[in-house]
Amino acid sequence: MYIYVIIDTSLYYVKYLRGRIVRHNLPGLLESHLLMGYNQLGIYVYKVILMKSTKHLICPVCHKPLLDKGKSLTCENSHSFDVAGKGYVNLLLSQDKNSKDPGDNKDMAKARKRFLDKGYYKPLADGLCDLFSQSIKSRDDNPVLLDAGCGDGYYTDRIGKSLQKAFINCSIYGIDISKEAIRLAAGRNKEISFVVASIFKIPLMTEKIDYILNAFAPSNDSEFSRVLKKDGFLVTVIPGRRHLYELKSVLYEKPYENDEKGPALPSFKLEDRIRINGFIELDSREDIADLLAMTPYYWRTPREGIERLNRLNKLGTEIDFIIGVYKK
Ligand SMILES: C[S@@+](CC[C@H](N)C(=O)[O-])C[C@H]1O[C@@H](n2cnc3c(N)ncnc32)[C@H](O)[C@@H]1O
Ligand SMILES: [Zn+2]
Repeated sequence: MYIYVIIDTSLYYVKYLRGRIVRHNLPGLLESHLLMGYNQLGIYVYKVILMKSTKHLICPVCHKPLLDKGKSLTCENSHSFDVAGKGYVNLLLSQDKNSKDPGDNKDMAKARKRFLDKGYYKPLADGLCDLFSQSIKSRDDNPVLLDAGCGDGYYTDRIGKSLQKAFINCSIYGIDISKEAIRLAAGRNKEISFVVASIFKIPLMTEKIDYILNAFAPSNDSEFSRVLKKDGFLVTVIPGRRHLYELKSVLYEKPYENDEKGPALPSFKLEDRIRINGFIELDSREDIADLLAMTPYYWRTPREGIERLNRLNKLGTEIDFIIGVYKK
């Protein structure tokens, strides 16, 4: 007996025998990834879902596994962490905070979200989606991915959706030390586990992660190496030589090019370096201000530079990213 599966308005079929799915025409699709129900015409309708997973999380206090109790995550030693209304969980202990409000503050996180949502860095998002879908497709099923320093979850969400579209089932975690960034990320995608936590103390089990993405965020060789499986991959994104050069030409008398030196990762072997570049045109003061708030220049530019930038209504600038693919 064939049962029709409706995914994104396309029709697929699965073979159904004595209550069990025995064959289907979607690679990588398992029974547990389907939601079953009848539609008004009485035919079975299935939907592929990305599984939100918490089963790789550990307690930040005693490092025992955390169990999902619905409204909280709890370990066997009764340390308990509430799941916020938005769906994220805060596993950052006060002694692991280097300030009262660590990481990107509310204004920076909101500026990043507004800017990225306008698609200015879409070429990078597309490049990362292609990279993950292609390498995951050629490896085993049910991989686990961590976005370390995920910010407002723009890339995490885009990657999750592209894997879902390619029928690749994957458990995805996003961590960031900024509570506001994680709050915004959790609002983007309910199927991803977003957690307030530090890259320097990742609350995930040892050697259970297949892929780490680390984009424009601090790196930590020992923690990345601990949580990654033996042949896992680490994908980094750093600014290329010409990244935002024209923005810097407004801010500084003598702009400099970036050095393209990646983070120190002695536990990893660099397998590939991919450059993605282009030119973007910002046509409002708001977008220019949002871009500045996303960069380190926001803090270190002399006042005259900021004033020169504030007088502009338009800005055209190069974007230049380097994706590093490392193997453990
Ligand atoms: C430049 S943003 C990049 C965010 C995101 N990956 C992106 O490319 O849109 C850097 C992020 O790293 C986070 N961050 C800084 N220190 C961190 C730490 N120790 N652990 C986790 N996240 C950290 C900040 O809060 C911020 O969201
Ligand atoms: Zn505990």
